[in-house]
Amino acid sequence: MEPILQVRNLRIDYKTAAGDARAVDDVSFNLHAGEYLGLVGESGCGKSTIAKAVLGILPGNARVGGSMKYGETELVGIGGERMRKLRWAEISMVPQSAMNGFDPVYTVEQQLDEAISAHARMPAAQRRARLHELFQMVGIEPRRLKDYPHQFSGGMRQRAMIAMAMVLDPKLIVADEPTTGLDVIVQDQILQRIRKIHLEHNKTMLLITHDMAVVAENCDRIVVMYAGKVMESGREQVFRQPFHPYTLGLCNAFPDLDDRDRELISIPGAPPSLLDPPGGCRFAPRCPFATELCSRQAPPLVEVGPDHVAACHYVDRAAAFRELAKDPATWRGTAVPA
Ligand SMILES: Nc1ncnc2c1ncn2[C@@H]1O[C@H](COP(=O)(O)OP(=O)(O)O)[C@@H](O)[C@H]1O
Ligand code: SF4
Ligand SMILES: [Mg+2]
Repeated sequence: MEPILQVRNLRIDYKTAAGDARAVDDVSFNLHAGEYLGLVGESGCGKSTIAKAVLGILPGNARVGGSMKYGETELVGIGGERMRKLRWAEISMVPQSAMNGFDPVYTVEQQLDEAISAHARMPAAQRRARLHELFQMVGIEPRRLKDYPHQFSGGMRQRAMIAMAMVLDPKLIVADEPTTGLDVIVQDQILQRIRKIHLEHNKTMLLITHDMAVVAENCDRIVVMYAGKVMESGREQVFRQPFHPYTLGLCNAFPDLDDRDRELISIPGAPPSLLDPPGGCRFAPRCPFATELCSRQAPPLVEVGPDHVAACHYVDRAAAFRELAKDPATWRGTAVPA
């Protein structure tokens, strides 16, 4: 099957007063129709930049190279007019903060109706019926369409945003941290709702999150990003049997479904500035297993299993790394090497 989205050697630079920051550096991945892909990594790793590129909403100081094909359509360099035709109708988005997505002075219905009218010719009665259907789909009483955004809870606003993304029945939905800032229970409800829509309405999903547990519970394909680069990607083996130390670190930082008593360990330090990223492996300054080779030479992505790649010089030592990574002393740099 041809991928619905084929990203090849994508590079995105932001021009800034301090120089060019390469936010996305040689990123490639496929997303097949009907798949649920999770793009995961800490803040500042280039995830939103990829989302914005797919939606054609990058700011003016961004420069894009490489290729990003939606079906047969090349999205890199596509004109604004053609992109506007694809947006909402083919590719839509659920934004991070639902509060910013709505105007406080109009009812939710007026705003959703406006979104439909702007993109499709549909008689008023049909639009109303569509909005009712969408509200039922996201689990909100259709009579609440008459409410103003401030009358909705945070979770309801985010569900209304999901309804908005579904207005024109797109094929691909990009959700950038759709539950950040919501409490855990609401977060769970929203993610379940997205998953239901993905399964029952056969929507292809690109979910962006910093939370490995969210990816593990929802996605069937995973791309782990660090400092603008893909560190590891594949299917569920990525979190079941990680090969990259960064993936191990991310898995450690979130509660385990099977082992809730496990100690959570976060990776010390922070991702590097993309204005001047470290040479060699970008994770080396934080990696407990780094050697002299790591800071000198960038590891290429290598196959570590069926449909599973990782970029580490020592993928052959992954089994030992997995054991060591469970010990907090490893991340403090005080563990005795194996
Ligand atoms: N408009 C912009 N101008 C300059 N740099 C930007 C801009 N937007 C993002 N960046 C930089 O690009 C990098 C990646 O950002 P982003 O894609 O938002 O990461 P993430 O979504 O993973 O947190 C960061 O270093 C960020 O500072
Ligand atoms: S290449 Fe070296 S620094 Fe990079 S993840 Fe592998 S062991 Fe760590
Ligand atoms: Mg982001």
